[in-house]
Amino acid sequence: METWLELLVLAAVCWPVARVALSRPFLRRARAFPAKGAATLGALFLYAGLLLGAAVAGPVALRSLTVAVVLTWLILRWRAREAFGVSGGLPAGSLGLAPVGPWRDHRFYEKQAALHGPVFKMSNFVRPVVCIVGLDLAADLLREHEDGLGVGYVPSSRFVPSGFLRYMPPDAHRLYRRVFQQAFSKDVIDPHLPLIRRRIREELAALADESSREGGTRARPCLERMVRTAFLSLFFGMRAAEPNGSRLLAIQSMIDWRQAYRHPPWRIRRLHAEVDDLIARQIRVWESGGGEADSRPPSILHEWLLTEPELIHDPAAVFNLLYISVAGGGDLADLLVWIVKMLCDHREWAEGVAAEGTSTDLAGRIVLETLRLEQSEYLVRRALSDLRFREKRIPRGWQVRICVRESHRDAARFEDPEAFNPDRFLEGPSAGSYVPFGMSRHACLGQRLTVAFGRTLVEELARGFEWDVVQDGPREYGGFHWRPSSKLSLVLHPRSRRQARG
Ligand code: HEM
Repeated sequence: METWLELLVLAAVCWPVARVALSRPFLRRARAFPAKGAATLGALFLYAGLLLGAAVAGPVALRSLTVAVVLTWLILRWRAREAFGVSGGLPAGSLGLAPVGPWRDHRFYEKQAALHGPVFKMSNFVRPVVCIVGLDLAADLLREHEDGLGVGYVPSSRFVPSGFLRYMPPDAHRLYRRVFQQAFSKDVIDPHLPLIRRRIREELAALADESSREGGTRARPCLERMVRTAFLSLFFGMRAAEPNGSRLLAIQSMIDWRQAYRHPPWRIRRLHAEVDDLIARQIRVWESGGGEADSRPPSILHEWLLTEPELIHDPAAVFNLLYISVAGGGDLADLLVWIVKMLCDHREWAEGVAAEGTSTDLAGRIVLETLRLEQSEYLVRRALSDLRFREKRIPRGWQVRICVRESHRDAARFEDPEAFNPDRFLEGPSAGSYVPFGMSRHACLGQRLTVAFGRTLVEELARGFEWDVVQDGPREYGGFHWRPSSKLSLVLHPRSRRQARG
């Protein structure tokens, strides 16, 4: 009886961590951090093994383990008190391990800020984090501690020579940021917009055909394809229908963080060598004048060939281009799914776009409002030394999370903040209130492209189609941010056909 009781206590103590570590949202995020995910699951198995071993070894071993675990649990409970460390300058909030809220409740950070104030502490699974809600505070923190805050890190950065742009050391970052600022400038992006519109049209027409044949089609895969094929031509001047292009698309799916965890590092390196080869082949086609490069809008790669050919032979530039297209494309596709969801839930705005011309740019405002409510990133930083901010202490090594999405729901800045109201942007976003693309020297370089792409989707969808939602579900945690249900399925009807039938 005692043995069973002790085993029960040992299992109960571990349950809160196991519940989160084995949940689908946590496992989705672990794809981006495979070593940490594996370490967490390994620790759980080790604990289960220890437990069984102690049970087999006899009552003394089991009793000793139970006492040690219960003592550790008591210490962690004491540390999880919301007032822990407050007298020593830490912000309020619980450091309880593996809180379930962030994975289950998209309002978690807002609720914590309401409880503890705009600067609070919590655990990101097991790592302590100081969260900041409010853009004025965030701007002050980034300004006052620019050099004391490092940028977060994702492990796949190690495959990129010199690292992802976002995680480069300051000098390299300054250099390559300039390269990519030029790469995503108006001069390069705008000539591509007609081609992007054509891709969007083609994909929507395919979605309409497939959805009426099948009685409904999921929106996400179609929108992901739309972004990937458009980016293939914008970034690399390749087409999905050509062998070079289709192989590059396949490689991009494999190195995407959602899939890369399946492949050992040596295979990723081999894929990189193949990318080098595909690019060299593409360049040879252009150089020999056999391609249609000059008749297409020039891609970023082609632009480099003409203006800065040394970049083509610079692995840091080429592989950042590759990974920016994968990561930026993923964020953009997630935004497009939210836009479709918003247009499904708020049809009146889609009708507005169908009825009006392009004069007031309602489509652009729909993109801005969707970004405000749903697809705003949080910014992650790491304290490089002990920091003091607004009388609070941020210990060295702790993470800092700037909660942009929650800050965009500030009633003092946005009237009726929960309402989907694109017209709040009729005068444009007011300075300092709206930063879906970041607010530091790492601010997004894809802003122009993202808004133009989203706007074109809204225009093409609202003007060309009507639709019925045949399946939907609650929002899901996608690993980095919340997204609409992956079940969201539509039947799309071309307006002309419906009107003719009507
Ligand atoms: C919904 C779409 C997108 C959102 C909300 C978004 C948001 C952001 C944010 C908030 C940052 C700053 C991160 C930080 O300060 O730590 C950032 C950085 C960046 N974004 Fe985006 N982004 C999106 C799409 C794109 C696209 C399509 C591209 C590329 C074409 C792109 C390229 C970049 C790059 C290169 C950086 C790093 C800049 C640097 O470190 O200097 N983004 N993005």
